[in-house]
Amino acid sequence: MKVGILGGGQLAQMLIQAGRELGVKFEVFTSEQGCPAGQLAEVTVGSFNDQAQMVAFFKRNHFITYENENLSVELLQSISENSSSLFPSANILEVISARFSQKQFFHHLGIPTAPVFFVENSSDVPSALEKVGVPGIFKTNRLGYDGKGQKQITCLAEGVTVWNDLGSVPLVYEQWIPFERELSLVACRDRFGKMVFYPLVENIHKKGILELTWAPAENVSPDLQRLAESYAVSVCQKINYVGVLALELFQWGTQLLINEMASRVHNTGHWSIEGAQTSQFENHLRAGLGLSLGDPQPCGYSAMLNLIGTIPAQIEQLKKEIGVFVHLYGKNPQPGRKLGHITVVSENTHSLKDKLNRVRGICGI
Ligand SMILES: Nc1ncnc2c1ncn2[C@@H]1O[C@H](COP(=O)(O)OP(=O)(O)O)[C@@H](O)[C@H]1O
Ligand SMILES: [Mg+2]
Repeated sequence: MKVGILGGGQLAQMLIQAGRELGVKFEVFTSEQGCPAGQLAEVTVGSFNDQAQMVAFFKRNHFITYENENLSVELLQSISENSSSLFPSANILEVISARFSQKQFFHHLGIPTAPVFFVENSSDVPSALEKVGVPGIFKTNRLGYDGKGQKQITCLAEGVTVWNDLGSVPLVYEQWIPFERELSLVACRDRFGKMVFYPLVENIHKKGILELTWAPAENVSPDLQRLAESYAVSVCQKINYVGVLALELFQWGTQLLINEMASRVHNTGHWSIEGAQTSQFENHLRAGLGLSLGDPQPCGYSAMLNLIGTIPAQIEQLKKEIGVFVHLYGKNPQPGRKLGHITVVSENTHSLKDKLNRVRGICGI
């Protein structure tokens, strides 16, 4: 069995690590030489927009999946039209590729989001500010990640330059939500419609980049977990989804708003490699390959700390600690770049906090 992955970053790398134990072989299609996943699999370097290369890639692999959603939706739709080899299907990419279409999709399903206004050109900015109010946040409609392509507005005057500041491209403007906390749900649906759900986790972002995930999140009522799961069920049923789906959520008073979703394995699910019975990576592959899904239940309590920009000099020391798992992706350090992560697992939240503080102390982060 051979699986092709579009993209060769750390998500592909961890999918390959999980798939080896299932006896799966991999080919990675990447636009960059020397990608993290390239160390572990056959690699093809090419352009995601080259039809001939993509058709050949689909032919060489039994199944195809992807690790980032910025792909040519039309091309993938045309290649995968008469086959179910691509998972999740190209239809979800059409929804996900633009922030505004995602929000509309959620509204059609009755899933609440922050109030949002589409800014197609600069003349729409004043209406956006008026309709949604201040404070708010402008985001490029396409291609944003890790907080890139965003500008927070705290007074009307700051809106004047936003169109130019964000590159004169279509935007969305959202009301700023003073949420209590950010949560996310990783769900997985198999080819027969059965779903499993990881517990809600709490995420802490710094400058728009995920820094820390607590798994499971503390003080989650069964009702809150069920509500989040019901959002994932609605999305998946609507498009006959196969694979891992991640929902980023804001808990705000009694409301659970959806911020965005990802049709792939997700950074807030990395803890599941050591912290759950079955990891998100294994379950994503199991779903795509037509296998039954593994148990998503956590084994104890986990914290996942991203290594951003630099790798601490003391990282080798950490590898010797019990219940501390270091993942380095093999990427060149750059400010704001995710270079690896550390997962700490413990039997209760008290000892987890102690262990995490120790890890932070050793690393100086
Ligand atoms: N409407 C909002 N209100 C409050 N915080 C927000 C809002 N939108 C985004 N954020 C903050 O910025 C982070 C990044 O925004 P997000 O929409 O998830 O973009 P990205 O695609 O870069 O992850 C979020 O995780 C959250 O912390
Ligand atoms: Mg996000």
